[in-house]
Amino acid sequence: MRALSNHEVHVHLADPAYFQADDGCRARALAILSTDELERFARYRLERDRAIYLATHWLVRTVLSDYEPTAPEAWRFATGKYGRPEITGISTLRFNLSNTHGLVACAVCRRVDVGVDVERKTGFAPLDAADRFFAPTEVASLRGLPVTERSRRFFDYWTLKESYIKARGLGLALPLDQFAFVLENGRSPRIEFDPRLDDHGDHWQFEQHVPTNDHLLAVCVRRHDSRGFAFTYDWHRPSWV
Ligand SMILES: CC(C)(COP(=O)(O)OP(=O)(O)OC[C@H]1O[C@@H](n2cnc3c(N)ncnc32)[C@H](O)[C@@H]1OP(=O)(O)O)[C@@H](O)C(=O)NCCC(=O)NCCS
Repeated sequence: MRALSNHEVHVHLADPAYFQADDGCRARALAILSTDELERFARYRLERDRAIYLATHWLVRTVLSDYEPTAPEAWRFATGKYGRPEITGISTLRFNLSNTHGLVACAVCRRVDVGVDVERKTGFAPLDAADRFFAPTEVASLRGLPVTERSRRFFDYWTLKESYIKARGLGLALPLDQFAFVLENGRSPRIEFDPRLDDHGDHWQFEQHVPTNDHLLAVCVRRHDSRGFAFTYDWHRPSWV
């Protein structure tokens, strides 16, 4: 079994391409999904989206079984009011999932809230969405940047904001303009809250990571003491590929 202390976050990554190209690979991964997951898989119409869904749910089941003696197909999950899946039964493991074209991610820790988000940083950046949804300080910071740097900063904010709302488990029920990120070279991202949102920056730790030339990733974890967390990143591929 792999060790995971109370001060670690392990982020697991996989390329969904394995699950699109190869029928044999797909069949073996499908064999560990639950009935609900198989139904969701079948509802995706595009092969690319099916591969992303399958890779994500293969990854979480396989990865969790590295930490506890439960078979990949035996994990059971319940979905919270706002859509976050959690392990049911006795386990101290917590996880969160994210996916996009070309990349799926699963962050795992013990006992505390965790959120992860991945986006394609080379994709189209809907900068006008920042004006509508981001905090005033983030909008001002974006406007103050040279045009060539705005797209990257937009995705920095986007992934960090998503990682926070996912760690809270509330998704878009949280107003995105009531918390703002402060990004300074060489320092971890900091979060600041509008008083209307009853939260404090000291409660959270963030980390950004560039897993590929095309993607950006952010992780958010709830601090339980002043020591903080160490983050590790591991790539996975099906053992039978
Ligand atoms: C659902 C949401 C939490 C994430 O959506 P997303 O960015 O499209 O998707 P991601 O790939 O990052 O994450 C999807 C996974 O998050 C998990 N998830 C779903 N709801 C969640 C919630 N409320 N909290 C935490 N995790 C959640 C699920 O595991 C889901 O995958 P699954 O359905 O295959 O199990 C929500 O934030 C959303 O709808 N976002 C839309 C994008 C947007 O407008 N962002 C604003 C920019 S700041």
